[in-house]
Amino acid sequence: MLVSTTIKESRRIIEAWRSEGLTIGFVPTMGYLHDGHKSLIERARLENDKVVVSIFVNPIQFGPNEDLTTYPRDLERDRQICEAAGVDLIFAPSVTEMYPEKNLVYIDALILGDRLCGAKREGHFRGVCTVVAKLFNIITPERAYFGEKDAQQLAIIEQMTKDLNFDVQIVPCPIVREPDGLAMSSRNTYLSTGERQAALILSKALSVAKNLINAGERNAKVIYQKIEEVIKTEALARIDYIEIVDAKLLQPVTIIDQPVLVAIAVFIGKTRLIDNFFLREVSSR
Ligand code: PAJ
Repeated sequence: MLVSTTIKESRRIIEAWRSEGLTIGFVPTMGYLHDGHKSLIERARLENDKVVVSIFVNPIQFGPNEDLTTYPRDLERDRQICEAAGVDLIFAPSVTEMYPEKNLVYIDALILGDRLCGAKREGHFRGVCTVVAKLFNIITPERAYFGEKDAQQLAIIEQMTKDLNFDVQIVPCPIVREPDGLAMSSRNTYLSTGERQAALILSKALSVAKNLINAGERNAKVIYQKIEEVIKTEALARIDYIEIVDAKLLQPVTIIDQPVLVAIAVFIGKTRLIDNFFLREVSSR
């Protein structure tokens, strides 16, 4: 496995693979890898000749009061996980390698970026789109792997790829959870023992909502209120948002008569966690 910290060297490695006609699968990450990331790497391993993982805590997608400085980092641990998972190249640039000067050009997502995390984290998706576009231009993959854990990010990257004609196939991958239901996240490391237990309220509230819909409930407000009620039973939880939106443009729905995304963001103590589910097939009552 190769580890490169420079754009120039990574390009040289990738060009050599290209000249041999090899395909490249790409998994962009911010590191501190867990089984969620590993599932993306494994999928990429199955579908491509070479697998590239980027590890870069992208400063421009963090707001001024967010956790950029405390975000967990451990390149040596990540290196071992990647090696064991059969990764061919880790691209781990420094901030100055990626942003030698302040960017004067960014990529923005309209409509899809307006709600959910976009409304709560100003500039977040602008930072995500811009870094992913840069990474696509550096790595030039055939396929890129994104988790449904970050459903809005996935939808925006799919749209960006289409609108800007990136020659890359975006491959969505399902959410990987801990055995007790908590969606895996690098940010789970922030949780104390008590908070870790409290964090189960996210997956619990979503599974109650899913059961309601499966039982025939189609009124989004009823679902919303149920999720709210369940989360409020947990003293350590503070709701950031609960959204029930159409799966295409991520706009709020009142009646669930089309595929929807049910997404929540909840603070557990100081830690902001997200979780969601897609409802892809909606039967009539
Ligand atoms: P990061 O949070 O490290 O996540 C990297 C990828 O792993 C994303 O596609 C994310 O959706 C996926 N992922 C995280 N937890 C997951 C889980 N429990 N199950 C399945 N997939 C999971 O997302 C980012 O980094 C950044 O915004 C990035 C795209 C790298 C741009 O900086």
